Order: sequence, then structure tokens, then C-alpha cells
Amino acid sequence: MARILITSAIPYINGIKHLGNLIGSQLPADLYARYLRGRGNEVMFLCATDEHGTPAELAAAKAGKPVAEYCADMYEVQADIAKRFGMSFDHFGRSSSEQNKTLTQHFAGKLDDAGLIRKVSEKQVYSNADGRFLPDRYIEGTCPNCGYERARGDQCENCTKQLDPTDLIEPRSAISGSTDLEVRETKHLYLRQSAMKDQLDAWIDSKKDWPILTTSIAKKWLHDGDGLQDRGITRDLDWGVPVKKGDQVWPGMEGKVFYVWFDAPIEYIACAKEWADANGRTDADWERWWRTDKGADDVRYVQFMGKDNVPFHTLSFPATILGTNTYNEESGSSERWKLVDYIKSFNYLNYDGGQFSTSQGRGVFMDQALEILPADYWRWWLLSHAPESSDSEFTWENFQQSVNKDLADVLGNFVSRITKFCRSKFGEVVPEGGANGDREQALIDELSKRVRAYEAHMEAMEVRKSAQELRAIWVAGNEYLQAAAPWSTFKEDPEQAAAQVRLGLNLIRLYAVLSAPFIPEASAKMLSAMNTLDTSWPDDVAAALDALPAGHAFTVPDVLFAKITDEQREDWQSRFAGQRD
Ligand code: 2FM
Ligand code: ZN
Repeated sequence: MARILITSAIPYINGIKHLGNLIGSQLPADLYARYLRGRGNEVMFLCATDEHGTPAELAAAKAGKPVAEYCADMYEVQADIAKRFGMSFDHFGRSSSEQNKTLTQHFAGKLDDAGLIRKVSEKQVYSNADGRFLPDRYIEGTCPNCGYERARGDQCENCTKQLDPTDLIEPRSAISGSTDLEVRETKHLYLRQSAMKDQLDAWIDSKKDWPILTTSIAKKWLHDGDGLQDRGITRDLDWGVPVKKGDQVWPGMEGKVFYVWFDAPIEYIACAKEWADANGRTDADWERWWRTDKGADDVRYVQFMGKDNVPFHTLSFPATILGTNTYNEESGSSERWKLVDYIKSFNYLNYDGGQFSTSQGRGVFMDQALEILPADYWRWWLLSHAPESSDSEFTWENFQQSVNKDLADVLGNFVSRITKFCRSKFGEVVPEGGANGDREQALIDELSKRVRAYEAHMEAMEVRKSAQELRAIWVAGNEYLQAAAPWSTFKEDPEQAAAQVRLGLNLIRLYAVLSAPFIPEASAKMLSAMNTLDTSWPDDVAAALDALPAGHAFTVPDVLFAKITDEQREDWQSRFAGQRD
């Protein structure tokens, strides 16, 4: 069986994520991880909170907490919500961990040894009142182009003109509003991505099977305008990984930290070490996932993310890894790190005619979603409407329709009808007698084809197609039950009805196994009702439909999925129409 390393883009620490964030990375990554585990593969599924950078500092200030405390608290909140949404991470780490600090400094040191880091002197705006340098977007002023009074130092939101902070008329700090600003000289480290352009280009070119969405974004950054630019990897902030080389302060970099986008992807690696450290494992246990010189050469590494994250994952992070590996090769060091094998990226999910927005509190957020319905309802809708080939849109009508039709009418109803009918005529045991006929064989043939198609879509990470196929598998069972009508057969031929019911009960187990990646809670309920721990994958559908033998006891489960009423839908629609507080 294969070994697959899966990472989901690590969510920023500042605030609870909305459903658009969830479907953009964590949820499809979880689907894939669950599927692969279900097929018997060895999976390492990692995610973490992205804790550094100005947004974390400002959110902490707004919450009136020291930033470390704010991050520790928000980490617990995010970890809890992810768990309640069924995220099956092997580890949910923190980019502020000691492990990440050490590794980030290690990679920077290697890149410097390779001659891939240069020091650049730049001018930056310093706020005397705030006692800190201000990143461009935290400087506000009047746009010289259109007169908009709240233009940011990097761009005017009103006329979209790209700006430099020094272009702004009457600039002020967006943090305190102070106009006591001055331009100061500061030094920063730059990663010489331009020197690796050809190597990165060839690497992207070799990825023939990657989604166009992924490669087109990478190619644009490689070739548009002046091509791939060197990137500043340090910042004048207090909160972050201190700029050190090994355990020495980097000359001239006192008091500075690495840029959040430099250390965040390194957390994918550090997270595996955090997993090992937290579980009494050795370094060899995590290195076999990440070090190709230590057993990771047969690992397949797949990343999941929203399209806005693609440039960092196709260029910046690979530049860190490629640069380090190339240097190690030249210097004779055996240390080699794993590069990503496949990047699955997503478009955006919109909310009811507009965008989901964290800053404006628009849309449904993960905590709110779970207050109104269990995770499986959301998982099913989000995955079956994943924004793969284009942006997609959440509307309450569509959500109500999918839940009521797919989950309640098709799957839920099937499970309820067959178990209740069996209980009333044969008791709560799988009935004996009778045998499969042509109708049963036709169903087995159809399901065999469909299960193979489902596997192919899941393996290709075609999320919507997988959902469609799964739904078709549920529908086939429902149609069979409708046509076989054991409640009628029973009157003439109880033995044949027994065979039909036996098949139906076995279908519930099959559905539980196949549906687990999408709706794990409902799947667990179905298995528990069928009183079985047998979650083996249906390599042979006919055999899988014989798994529960005559005489096997079961129970009738509670309603799996309740329908969403029009009143509920209207209530939620108006409740989520405004901003969250
Ligand atoms: O867009 C985001 O939410 C970022 N925090 C993703 C970082 S992914 C990675 F590089 F770690
Ligand atoms: Zn403007």
C-alpha cells in the first residue's frame, strides 16, 4: 500500500474561518485522507494554525491580549471547531512552535550558505506613536489618483491603482490614526527566487498532470511582467521567528523576524515533528515522511489550497526546498527534503450573491454552521458543490434542496425503510432464505461499475464528480428497493422478500463504507446500527453485499438526516443576512 502525505493550507490564527475557507482546503483534504485510509493506505494528514504576521498582532491588540496568549487561545478554538467538523488530522500544529522556529532558521541558514539570500536596504514608514514600522497596508491616506480618503499604502480599493505608501496624500497609521510618520531606512533579507527561475520553470513544466488552475497561476508569476522577483523574507515585527542563522543572530537583523509566508509552509514539515514529539515517536518517524534521504522517496505528497495560495506553494516554498536540496547536493550533504507531487487548488465559494468575507463578517462561519446543523449536512453540501472548475455559490435554497433530496430523501429514507420493514416482518436480524435473482444481479452489476468510477474520481481528487457518483450509488439502491418492493413480495413469497431485505441491509453497510469520507458521522451511525466493525472496502461488490450473514443482529437507527423546513431556511437566511458581530 502507498504512503501519502497530505497537507491543507494552514488557516490564519486571527478569527474563526468561514465555510468558503473550509471548502478551499481543509475539507477536501480531509475527504481525500479519509478515502485513502479507507483503502488501506498509510496516510499522514497535517494542518496547523498560521500564527505569525501583522494580522495576528493586530487581532491580539483588538482582543486586548498579549499576542502569544491570543494565539494560544485561538488555537484551541480552531482545533475544537476543526474536530467538530470531522477533520481527521494526524496532527493539528502551530506555526509558532519551537519545532517550526528551529526548522525555519535551519532552512534560512542553508539558503544563505547556498548564496541564495541577499541583504537589501529599503526605506519604510515608521510610526512614532505606534513605535513600529508599518507594513504598506497599514498606512492609509488619500488616493492621489481618485481622491478616495481611505486608500491603503499598497493599493486604492476605490480605483484599484497600485500605490506606494509615499504616494498617499496625508498618510496616517491605520493602527492608531497617527500622522506622526517618518521614512526610515531598514535592512531585510531577500530570497533570490530569480536565480532559481529556470529550475522552477522546468519543475512546473514537468507537472503534466497538475490542474490548469495551479500551473497557470505559477506560469503567470514566472513569466508575466519582469518575471519572478526576489522576495523579502524578513519583517520589522516583534512577533514571529527571530532571524537567526543556527543559534546566532543574523548580523544586522537584530529584532527582526521572518516573514509569515516564509515560515508558514515550513510548518508543514515542523508539524510532522510536532506530531512525533507529541506522540512519543522518534525523529526517524517523522523524517520518513519528509526526508527523501531517510525513506520519504516513496511518499506521494499532495497539497490542498485556495487559488490565492498557489503562488506561494508553486514558487516560494519550492524555492526554499529546491535551493536547500541543490546546495546540499553540491556541498556533499545527504540532507534532502520532499517536494510536493500534486497541488489541488480551489476557486472561491461565494455567499448568496456576494463574497464570503472575514473582515466584513459576511457569510456563515464554522462555529455558526455547527450551531444550526451537524457537520455532515455542511460537509455534503460543500463537497458536492466544491468550487473546482469555477467559483461556486452558496444559497440557502440550494442548501435546503440538496440536504432534503440527497441526504434525507435518498440515503436517509433508504436506511429507514429497509431497517423498519425488516424489524416489522423478520425482527432485528438479517433474515435468511431466498436467493438473488436477475434484479439483484443487475443492481450488483451497476454498483460494481459505479464503485470503480467513484474510486477513479476520488483518486483523481475530482470532488464534485465523486459526490455525483456517490449520490448515484445511493439512488441505485433506492430505485432497487422501490422496484423490488419487498413489502409487496412478502405477501406472495416471504423467502424472496427475505433475500431482498438481506441485500438492502448489506447495502447499508456498503453505503456506510463508501460514504464515510463525505459524511463520517452518519456513516458511523449506519455501521453501528448494522452492528458491524467491518469497514473493508468493496473491492468485490458482490462479496461486500454478502458481508452481513443471515442471523446477524442489527438495530433501527434514529433518523439519519432531518429535512430542512421552509421556516428554518427563512430564519437562517435572515439571521445570516447581515454581518456577524
Ligand atoms: O491563506 C491562508 O489562510 C494562509 N494562512 C495559508 C498559509 S498556507 C502555508 F503556506 F502554510
Ligand atoms: Zn484611488
